[in-house]
Amino acid sequence: MGKQIILTGVTTTGTPHLGNYAGAIRPAIEASKRTDADTFYFLADYHSLVKNHDPDAVHRSSLEVAATWLALGLDTERAIFYRQSDIPEIPELTWILSAVTAKGLMNRAHAYKAAVAANEASGSRDPDGGITMALFGYPVLMAADILLFRANRVPVGKDQKQHVEMARDIAQRFNHNFAELFVLPEADIDAHTAVLSGLDGRKMSKSYNNTIPLFVPEDKLRKLIMKIKTNSLEPGEPKETEGCTLFQIYQAFATAPEVETMRTRFREGIGWGELKQELFEYLDAHLRDARNEFERLLVDTGHVDAVLQHGAERARAIAGPFIARIRDAVGIRRLG
Ligand code: TRP
Repeated sequence: MGKQIILTGVTTTGTPHLGNYAGAIRPAIEASKRTDADTFYFLADYHSLVKNHDPDAVHRSSLEVAATWLALGLDTERAIFYRQSDIPEIPELTWILSAVTAKGLMNRAHAYKAAVAANEASGSRDPDGGITMALFGYPVLMAADILLFRANRVPVGKDQKQHVEMARDIAQRFNHNFAELFVLPEADIDAHTAVLSGLDGRKMSKSYNNTIPLFVPEDKLRKLIMKIKTNSLEPGEPKETEGCTLFQIYQAFATAPEVETMRTRFREGIGWGELKQELFEYLDAHLRDARNEFERLLVDTGHVDAVLQHGAERARAIAGPFIARIRDAVGIRRLG
């Protein structure tokens, strides 16, 4: 069997947080070290336009996401690391795929349905109010991201599983109509990967505004950790680790023996204040070097850009010849 192709994208909205790190960035960096797989990681900046119409925020987030991955040690000679918008073959393929994508398939997308449901719930007369073609066609762009590089495995969160299944459907349709060009991708949803809770105990997510950014300055990190919601058990009273946000965050960073020791201390009744202070110190110590590198990269934008350009060249060396075959298959060919 040939090498596996592992590919995933990160929408450039906002600043990467602890949940992104534990759930996506760290596993991706680990996967990039495998010798039996090639990895493709990219900034999905065209996807970010669906929700974000603030040009400076889009631009800033691209820099922050790229700097985060580099600061955390992604080896960009191994992994192909690029910006979606540097690969013109992606929007080109998006259009071609749109021609074989049933509108009815898009009608069933969770994100679109949720937007319609929100309109209906608000009593609006137009169920499509405020919904753009970009929101509606989002899964087609994502299919192009995946299919262009013949990815077999697509590590994503549960919320993105349907999109990968749609990419599969679209690929099958194309293969059937034109030529067997596309590999059918599979979503990789790792049950062991941590999903972290945020400040309020709900899933840590930009949309809930409850995140702890990965690289905030030390004093800010301390303040945020102190804000994490706990119950009213006093020091000395035994505590549950299950469902405890503080424990979960600790577990996402600490080694197995450290986690076991912490479990015992929960049983013995560690106080919330003490635990918060320790968690802060632990995270601060573990993130300090990467944070310094992140800060350095935020000013060395030329370097970040050069790394991404290099990734784009490598990606296009693959995408270019492949899109030529795709165009040929659908009859977009030279006339003479
Ligand atoms: N939609 C994904 C998300 O919001 C990001 C993404 C864009 C992606 N294109 C992709 C993920 C291709 C995997 C493969 O998380």
